[in-house]
Formats: sequence, structure tokens, C-alpha cells
Amino acid sequence: MKTLNTINAIRKELHPLRLANKRIALVPTMGNLHAGHISLVKEALKHADVVVSTIFVNPMQFGPNEDLDSYPRTLEADKEKLAHAGNHFLLTPSVKEIYPNGLNQTTVHVPGCTECLCGEKRPGHFDGVTTVVTKLFNMIQPDVAIFGQKDFQQLTTIRKMVVDLCFPIKIIGVETCREADNLAMSSRNGYLNTRERNTAPKLYHALKQIKSALLSAEKDHATLLRNTRQSLDETGFSTDYLEIRDADTLAKPGANSTRLVILGAAFLGKTRLIDNLTLELNQ
Ligand code: PAF
Repeated sequence: MKTLNTINAIRKELHPLRLANKRIALVPTMGNLHAGHISLVKEALKHADVVVSTIFVNPMQFGPNEDLDSYPRTLEADKEKLAHAGNHFLLTPSVKEIYPNGLNQTTVHVPGCTECLCGEKRPGHFDGVTTVVTKLFNMIQPDVAIFGQKDFQQLTTIRKMVVDLCFPIKIIGVETCREADNLAMSSRNGYLNTRERNTAPKLYHALKQIKSALLSAEKDHATLLRNTRQSLDETGFSTDYLEIRDADTLAKPGANSTRLVILGAAFLGKTRLIDNLTLELNQ
């Protein structure tokens, strides 16, 4: 695996490969890689001849009181995992390389699906994500790009951005990797103390209970969500949101919505966890 730090260096490597008709896949990450990230690389290898992963802790997608400075940075361990997974190129640009003129620069805003859920709770977050992903798309010019379904709203937003801005890139979503107790893998799980770590899987259990109720034709979403939220809060969470949405648009489900997604975000202490579960109503 070759590790490069600059846009010019990765472009130089990819140019001859593109001329030789090699398919290129992009796996964008912020590092501190776990099995979930590696599953993205494995998926990328199925769709392309050349896999480019990126590690960049993107300052533009962090709010002023969020964990930009403490976000775990584990480059050497990450490199080993990527090389072992069969990744070909790793791009680890500096903040200066990505934002040469600082953060006050052109941004990409995807309207609609970014205005609710994490978009509402973390103002500016998705503009930071879509701006950096657009930069990565322009640098790497991949044929496919791979994202985890754990960040469901991010995936929906990127899918919309690709259509809206005519990027000739296929977006592939990969199922969430879970620990043995079903906690969704996340770099932020490392912040949890033992008590919080033991509580954490209950977020997913709550989503599963909501899913069962919906599949049993429960129509009173408001009461279902209120009761589940209350039991989460009684367990030690501070629930940020718990919602049932149309899985394609993230709008409130309408009479014609058959594919739904239940999305939750909740704090355990200072750590904010997110998770989601999709379902087909005519299952
Ligand atoms: O999902 C992430 O790790 C980040 O949001 C991404 C897509 C790498 C953009 O910084």
C-alpha cells in the first residue's frame, strides 16, 4: 500500500491507472479504523481494481463544542489494517492541503434531507461533510465510493448530492458492523466508560422494539416514540432524537412510504451515539 499526503501525488498515481481503464473506488474515512471501516474496503475491492482510502479528520464538519481536538488519531495502526485488507492507496492530507485558504471557502449545501435529525442538532455538519466529500470526489475521481449505512443521513445526503451535481460516481452503502452485543461500531465508542459501554447497546434494542411495533401495524408513531424515548432516558441516555422517517427522503412518512427508517441519536455522558434500522412495511 502506498501512503501519500498531497493531491498532486495521488493524482499522479491515479492518472495512468485511469488511462489503463482501471476502476477506482474511494473509501473516505476519518481514521481510527475498526472492522466497520475495513468492511467498506472489502466492499470496495469487489467493485474496483484500485481502492483509495482517505484519512482526514475534517474540521469543517465539527461544531465549535464538538470533539475535533480529541477525535482519536491512530495513523500507524490504521495503515496496518488497511494494508492487511488489501487497500492500494492511502491519502492522508493535512488540513492546509484540503483547506489552503482556511475554512471560509466555497461550500456544498444539500437542501431537504440535511435540515432534520443530525442536521438540525449539529448545524453546519452536513455542509462540512458534503464539501469535503466533493473535494475528495474531485481529487480521486472514483468510479464508486463506499459509505457506511450507520451514518444513514450522511449516506442519503451524499446520494442526493451525487444526483444533484451530476457526479458520475456510483454510491454504495454498506451494512452497519456491530459488536457481539449489537452496539454499532463507531470510533466514538472508545470514549465510553465501562458503565456507559454496558448501557450503549440499549439504543439498538430500542430501535428493534420500535421496528417490531411498526411491523405489528402500530400506527400511533408519536406515542411509540415518546414511550421508547422515556425508557431510554430512564436507562441513562439523554436522547437527542428518535424518529421514524421515509428511508428514501428522510421526510416524515406519508401514506405511500413503504420503506421506513428508525433513527436515534442519544448521549451517554458526553458521548453522542447514533444508530438506525430500516424496514419494509409490506414485509
Ligand atoms: O463518515 C465519515 O467518516 C466522514 O463523515 C467522512 C465521510 C469521511 C467525511 O469526512
